[in-house]
Amino acid sequence: MYNPVEINKDLFYVGVNDRSTHLFENLWPLPKGVSYNSYVIRDEKVALIDTVDISFTDVFLKKLEVVLGDRPIDYLIINHMEPDHSGALTFLLNKYPNIQLVGNARTADMLEGFYNITNNVLRVKDGEELSLGNSTLTFYMTPMVHWPETMMTYVNESHTIFAGDAFGTFGTLDGGVVDSQLNPDFYWDEMVRYYANIVGKYGSPVQKALRKLGDLKIETICSTHGPVWTEPENIERVIGMYDKMSKYEADKGLVIAYGSMYGNTEQLAEAIASEAAANGVKNIVMHNLSKSHLSYVVQDIFKYKGLIIGSPTYDSKLYPAVQNLVNTLENKNLKNRFFGYFGGHSWAGTSVRLLGKFADTMQFEIVCNPVDIKQSINEDTYQQAMLLGSNMAKKILSDDEVVPNKTTDCK
Ligand code: FEO
Repeated sequence: MYNPVEINKDLFYVGVNDRSTHLFENLWPLPKGVSYNSYVIRDEKVALIDTVDISFTDVFLKKLEVVLGDRPIDYLIINHMEPDHSGALTFLLNKYPNIQLVGNARTADMLEGFYNITNNVLRVKDGEELSLGNSTLTFYMTPMVHWPETMMTYVNESHTIFAGDAFGTFGTLDGGVVDSQLNPDFYWDEMVRYYANIVGKYGSPVQKALRKLGDLKIETICSTHGPVWTEPENIERVIGMYDKMSKYEADKGLVIAYGSMYGNTEQLAEAIASEAAANGVKNIVMHNLSKSHLSYVVQDIFKYKGLIIGSPTYDSKLYPAVQNLVNTLENKNLKNRFFGYFGGHSWAGTSVRLLGKFADTMQFEIVCNPVDIKQSINEDTYQQAMLLGSNMAKKILSDDEVVPNKTTDCK
């Protein structure tokens, strides 16, 4: 049995909680699961907005039965085709064969590619409307938030936006679905991690989408993951977070991410962190990249404006765990960071040069010359690490903007 959740008049939640999957997209840890949100508008016509992951088809169809009884579904609005939201589609169509599928030209292409579906697809364009009787849906194309076919659907009368992945979070909905029914504290960090890991590459499309939605009155945000946002302060907060993250703006704090085989490179990281703290930086997060999952490292890097990366030289390259981070940050188009770097080697050092190339590519502002140790830290390299820590602290605590490709001399 299922107790239907009515979000506002005639709008029902029919999503599911996944507490079994370990890795989202087979990549990103889900220690507290994830929800796949789907919604029904029960007007003169019935519209379903997105479906759920295929593994949850059974419970999803049962929820639909509870909300709809014998009523058919007239429209399935497909805001996003990624299989965590379209996976149940073919089973849904077995049960409700007359549903008209509503998407855009790129949705239609993906419907054919993923599910061999070509019939009964209504293609809509940006700004087009669809009446359900008492309520009217307006479709807004928001490509690359998170895939090229992504769109958002707005209910003109209730000022509700179905936002796809935007404003979503990891974490299941443990009882409450709407923010007014739950304590949202847990979800704020998980929203940053979700954004950084899943949508982070697409800062510019997110900015375009925010501009497009800028004139809409929004009273309810229904994302495909995490809580439904209805409290005015939460709506302002989630939109503000997306605006900030998609501009690659960040808070005053420092991430030191490093690899270290025998602890020598790590001693540099410790010295830098301790000196940054002594100079007033309170938010310092250190990640041993052989242990921390990349998902949390990337989350913290999206959160803070100071970044220092350290790597031993390994097979004449970066240490593999560091290489993995560097590749990921390049893929995410990370911008706008104060950057420092350090390395270690035992006979021939290349890691520092490679981190310097990375910094150039990313157009970071480089703080101090890099510190490189041969075999182990000595008084000279310790002093250089202290200089990096104190100068990075000054940068982070200042209100200076990052100047791309500038190097700050640390004399
Ligand atoms: Fe939740 Fe991009 O799918």
